[in-house]
Amino acid sequence: MRKKIYKFSLFTLSLFTFLFVSCDSGDIEEQSYNVTDKGHTVKLTAVLSGIESWEKKYSVSLAGFTTGDNYAQVVRTIPYTTSNTQMELVLANIDDNINTVELVITNRLRERVITLASVNMDEYVNVKDTIRMDLGLIDVSRFGALQLGLFDKACILCHGGNGGTGAANLNLTEGMSYANLVNVPSTRKEGMMRVTGGNAQESLFHQIMAEGGENLLHVNHTEILSNQFRENLNEVRQLIDDWINSLGDNNE
Ligand code: HEC
Repeated sequence: MRKKIYKFSLFTLSLFTFLFVSCDSGDIEEQSYNVTDKGHTVKLTAVLSGIESWEKKYSVSLAGFTTGDNYAQVVRTIPYTTSNTQMELVLANIDDNINTVELVITNRLRERVITLASVNMDEYVNVKDTIRMDLGLIDVSRFGALQLGLFDKACILCHGGNGGTGAANLNLTEGMSYANLVNVPSTRKEGMMRVTGGNAQESLFHQIMAEGGENLLHVNHTEILSNQFRENLNEVRQLIDDWINSLGDNNE
């Protein structure tokens, strides 16, 4: 007898729920959609080298960002121990307000320092499957980050990307950039080095990227930089300086 009452009330309850749902379909439907849809999943596979070369205040991360905001909404730090091994990292529950998922250097505040690779989530709105980010072998050291995040993105268009030596005889493509910059005399500014190892302030590279560097050359490089890095301009400038200043120590 008791059992029956129990069953009956359960039935009433579900009937009530059913009526409730059908009366108020609009909102409820959307809510239940959100409950079953836990968002997107991105899976990174890669062999990363140079993670261990970063100071502790920086992390190599897989992180989700909203356009216009330099602070990551979700972050997974890639452990130092995975350096030079085939690794796999999953970022799940990525909701709709995240526009890009990036392999990125972040600082302690979860701010973007520089982006090495990016997936545009807006292209996957209706995709339910795991989104794969296969990057192969990549160098994520400080200089590797400058190559992928800065030179490849904002410089090789003019400096060597089309097979030539590049504007001002400066080739910034992968494998060429370091030897074209470090302790190489400027072809434009008499007596200056493109990069003076260990001294950012005295390096033309630093000067043309910094505020006030607009008119040093015939091409406004300060503007090129600020157009490309709207959200993380200061972080990129700091990274350039940190790299140049570190050159005295270990030439990395
Ligand atoms: C729109 C084309 C263009 C882009 C993009 C560009 N540059 Fe240049 N760059 C030039 C030109 C042209 C010169 C020579 C300017 C002159 O003669 O005054 C130059 C000169 C330089 C020099 C001085 C070379 C020397 O020997 O003195 C450096 C360093 C430099 N660029 C670095 C960069 C970096 C780093 C980037 C990316 C952030 C970049 N450039 C992006 C066109 C470009």
